[in-house]
Amino acid sequence: MAEEKKGRHYLTGREIKAIVKENNKVIRALEKKKKRKAAESEFLSTMKDPANILEVDDLHSYFFTDQGVVKAVNGVSFEIPQGATVGVVGESGCGKSVTSMSIMRLLQGPYGQIVSGNIRFKSYDFKRDGKGKPIPIWDDDEEGNPQYDEVKDKKGNVKKGKDGKPLLERRQKRDQYGTRLFEMEEKVFDIAEMPTKEMHRLRGRQIAMIFQEPMTSLNPVFTIGNQLDEVTLLHFPGSSREDAKRRSIEMLNLVGIAAPERVYRSYPHELSGGMRQRVMISMALAGDPRLIIADEPTTALDVTIQAQILDLLRDLKKRINGSILLITHDLGIIAEMADYVVVMYAGRIIEKGTASEIFHHPMHPYTIGLQKSKPTMDSESDTLFNIPGNVPNPIDMPDYCYFRERCSGCVKACFGDYPPMVQVSPTHYVACHLYDKEKTE
Ligand SMILES: Nc1ncnc2c1ncn2[C@@H]1O[C@H](COP(=O)(O)OP(=O)(O)OP(=O)(O)O)[C@@H](O)[C@H]1O
Ligand code: SF4
Ligand SMILES: [Mg+2]
Repeated sequence: MAEEKKGRHYLTGREIKAIVKENNKVIRALEKKKKRKAAESEFLSTMKDPANILEVDDLHSYFFTDQGVVKAVNGVSFEIPQGATVGVVGESGCGKSVTSMSIMRLLQGPYGQIVSGNIRFKSYDFKRDGKGKPIPIWDDDEEGNPQYDEVKDKKGNVKKGKDGKPLLERRQKRDQYGTRLFEMEEKVFDIAEMPTKEMHRLRGRQIAMIFQEPMTSLNPVFTIGNQLDEVTLLHFPGSSREDAKRRSIEMLNLVGIAAPERVYRSYPHELSGGMRQRVMISMALAGDPRLIIADEPTTALDVTIQAQILDLLRDLKKRINGSILLITHDLGIIAEMADYVVVMYAGRIIEKGTASEIFHHPMHPYTIGLQKSKPTMDSESDTLFNIPGNVPNPIDMPDYCYFRERCSGCVKACFGDYPPMVQVSPTHYVACHLYDKEKTE
């Protein structure tokens, strides 16, 4: 077909039909895998480095369109150490959001699919008994005698048994927000291998996501309180409406909302953009996550609010002792927030390292160009540096370096294969022939 296509910029009906047929075959198999019933052992894994909370390993996420397969994420590997903030940068369309949506397993199916690779996540989940129920931590007295409380209904009235006496339940330990505590255990899950149904254990609870435009993820017909309570009711077994409300108000307080009771009763449209983003962060906080994915969390906000939201994110990370995957095309935000930086280009990682390595010693011609195109107060010139040229067509990626058409530093090897990832320091990697010793010597 490639021969036939030569010199043409369109596909014939027959060619489209063949693509659709092939796509459907692949999609069916991938959907079947997602819908399968699987024992936990099928998606349990181990971390390569126990200091990491997330390891993305050779991830391929594609969109199966009638025009061909868009390889939006095409072999991406990076890790997030526990407690660290990892920034992902790259121009529009390079696959940043598709990477984060893959981690959340929120790719728009059936056309968007994780095709291969691993996403290992170190989860901190409820320990469960033989029947799969979380094991409570009891609040017994010093001698180990169980303590009992009266059971209340949704309205807070004491429930009574057939004999007219109040119903009692064994007292369970609670956290500082009044939420019941359970025994916990650490397990490593391969998110790419999990059946969709199992993802509820992680999504919104252990991995929370903050989007660019909170209005798209808040439901306009429910109050903020309703949506916040839902997180507690869904993820913390045994929580009553009263418990959920108490936790929700606490969370709104924590993100600096002055009148939490009022905001609790408000609808999303009644709040400003900055307030909505605070609510989103409180919602992330409510699940007590270990990893927060923030995809352009401040792009829709003005500069002062932006600074407040970033402060809040930093504070939140400390509070939960968690990690952040921060996606943005604003290098300033990355410089301020990130410990490690991943630079993406056309669905691949072309450079990664510590923030200091990427900012002070950028090596890939694209990263160097990105730095130059960042406006600074002290720059003499009044025009911004612009990287000339375009990204190759995502359906028809070349087998040589994707940046070649835009690169001014090409060497002979650039006319050969796609460059391998070269390690230049214990933490710094770059995919460019300029640093590929075997080729350049
Ligand atoms: N539903 C879809 N169908 C087909 N292609 C898609 C779809 N969603 C994303 N893509 C493609 O996947 C690639 C990566 O998109 P992605 O949204 O991850 O970019 P991004 O890096 O987040 O860009 P931005 O900075 O604009 O948010 C793009 O080429 C895009 O066209
Ligand atoms: S591999 Fe060659 S074309 Fe690609 S960025 Fe490096 S020097 Fe430029
Ligand atoms: Mg995006």
